[in-house]
Amino acid sequence: MSSVVLGVGGGIAAYKAADLLRKLAEAGHDVNVVPTASALQFVGAATWAALSHHPVSSEVWSEADRVPHVQLGRQADLVVVAPATADLLARAAHGLADDLLTNTLLTARCPVLFVPAMHTEMWEHPATVDNVATLRRRGSVVMEPASGRLTGTDTGKGRLPEPVQIAQLAELLLHRGDALPYDLAGLHVLVSAGGTREPLDPVRFLGNNSSGRQGYAVAAVAAARGAQVTVVSANVELPDPAGVEVVRVGTALELRDAIDKAAQDADVVVMAAAVADFRPVAQAAHKIKKSGEPPEPLPLEENPDVLAGLVAARRLGTVLVGFAAETGDEQHTVLELGRAKLARKGCDLLVVNQVGPGRAFGQLDNAAVILGSDGAETVVDHGPKAALAAALWDAVATRLHG
Ligand code: CTP
Repeated sequence: MSSVVLGVGGGIAAYKAADLLRKLAEAGHDVNVVPTASALQFVGAATWAALSHHPVSSEVWSEADRVPHVQLGRQADLVVVAPATADLLARAAHGLADDLLTNTLLTARCPVLFVPAMHTEMWEHPATVDNVATLRRRGSVVMEPASGRLTGTDTGKGRLPEPVQIAQLAELLLHRGDALPYDLAGLHVLVSAGGTREPLDPVRFLGNNSSGRQGYAVAAVAAARGAQVTVVSANVELPDPAGVEVVRVGTALELRDAIDKAAQDADVVVMAAAVADFRPVAQAAHKIKKSGEPPEPLPLEENPDVLAGLVAARRLGTVLVGFAAETGDEQHTVLELGRAKLARKGCDLLVVNQVGPGRAFGQLDNAAVILGSDGAETVVDHGPKAALAAALWDAVATRLHG
């Protein structure tokens, strides 16, 4: 059981931290909540105590015999601060220790994840920008806020990312036991995710089981490591990863067009989407009806291979990554098929995972081997999809930065 400190800042998004707390507790972690005094104006101590099964305080004076301002930080495997207000980021960046949470931040030696939420003006203010840069330079992970409706009638960047996305990053940091490097800043990263659907008629399609979870995890981890991220998303029913531009597509041809457009200035392209190899030659204008006769075989034509197109048009210095979903067969193991696919596709890295009932597609966890065109093979053991994403970005960063 991991020990997590959930620091809660004084913003309206504090109520969403209750959902995050539930998710962390349901994942089996022991969570101590440390709200700031102003956070308690939004959500009271009773809520945090009942959900965490621990006493709750925001200052260092209660239960002083247990020296909580030192104990909590020392024991923690992870500190998550959500929402992290502009004030809290400033106090953390300046090393202040004027309440229990800031004391805990100074004593913790584990990974720290800040999840900002504030109005756009406050997020963009040079003071906040500097404070965030300072925290990142010191090794903390600071998520990008999501865009959308803010507290008043205004919209913009500054929303707390969805609790499920925060929980995923928290799981990654716990799994890794270490912070994420902020090593993709200044890079444009393009990721395809989900599965394409090839329409037969207005209500039916040829599709596949890809949920988009692995591609979204690849995008979210790249954003947390500082990249500017575009996701081309094919039929994904998940919340948009925070701080990421999402381009929605349906078919393989739409995906190819969106990827080719966004790839023009991309430094890295990760093709995590399951792209249909074939599409019906024609789409019926009306719903195809039963005729009482066995149906005619469906004429199909081949879709373009998007990854092969990227390889053919590649610019020097870009890194191209493919995914290979394999089941293996009587003659070949999953890895043998993966090695052959890497050679055939000509990309730099290929993430090979075994698919089948209960494996990879739609699951929260994944295991894979990352093959490099230089012969490198990195085994990524079974773990959260974000952990595979982080291992992939480690391999990409090695290629980019040496
Ligand atoms: N891919 C692509 N365009 C396609 C098919 C696949 O860009 N029309 C990409 C996928 O996004 C993935 C990689 O190619 O990154 C491998 O996909 P996969 O379906 O495993 O391989 P295929 O080339 O389709 O080979 P096969 O189906 O014969 O295994």
